[in-house]
Amino acid sequence: MFIDIIPSAKDIIESKLIHKNAVVIDVLRATSVIVTALYHGAKAIIPVREVGEAFSIYQKGSTDEYRLSGERKGLPIPGFHFGNSPLEYTKKAVENKTLILTTTNGTQGIKGAEKSDTLYIGSFLNGKAVANQLLEEEKDVVLVCAGTNGIFSLEDGLCAGKIISSLNQLTSIKTTDFGVALQALYEGHKNSLLPFIQQGAHCRYLIEQGFQSDILYCIQEDLYDRIPVYKNNKIILP
Ligand code: MLT
Repeated sequence: MFIDIIPSAKDIIESKLIHKNAVVIDVLRATSVIVTALYHGAKAIIPVREVGEAFSIYQKGSTDEYRLSGERKGLPIPGFHFGNSPLEYTKKAVENKTLILTTTNGTQGIKGAEKSDTLYIGSFLNGKAVANQLLEEEKDVVLVCAGTNGIFSLEDGLCAGKIISSLNQLTSIKTTDFGVALQALYEGHKNSLLPFIQQGAHCRYLIEQGFQSDILYCIQEDLYDRIPVYKNNKIILP
């Protein structure tokens, strides 16, 4: 199994994804939100690139079932029901709802990777489950780190490193030099993830905006054992 890594959503080259599986990773916070909301009973998540697109899907859909979610500059979008804090996505808030989600980088990564064969949603919250699933399929995979505004983000790379590290313990894999570096980075910091991730620019920004508790939540490893899948414009928990 060959594991390729894309460092940010803006670096996606579609041809690299053809005939491969992909995992999109946006630890802070889009993919952590997706994993949490679906685990808490959301029916589906429709990822979109633009705020206007989200409003237009909402207006055409059932106002009872649909909810608008996401962020710009990390902050809630005026007129939306939810921001991008995973702690908002409780069972009570999201059960049986379909969320229309737009975020600065995470949903761009998902839409950008839709040409892959199977597109999974990964985070620290379900990292081991993702590795087990990839192992079962034994197919080449691309780990798409969402990054921040076209720049690699430390926390996404560490999560990619965790997935590579887990796979490496289970099977024989090949990866790029970047993959080798991310695996070593994760293995060297897995016992001190918080202070290490806090050195990252996006993490520091979120702390400045008052989202410290989101960071503590998002860096928990293997809280959930299920993997959201993107298919036909929707993300569901199979
Ligand atoms: C994104 O997609 O850029 C993020 O998840 C931003 C955030 O909520 O911090």
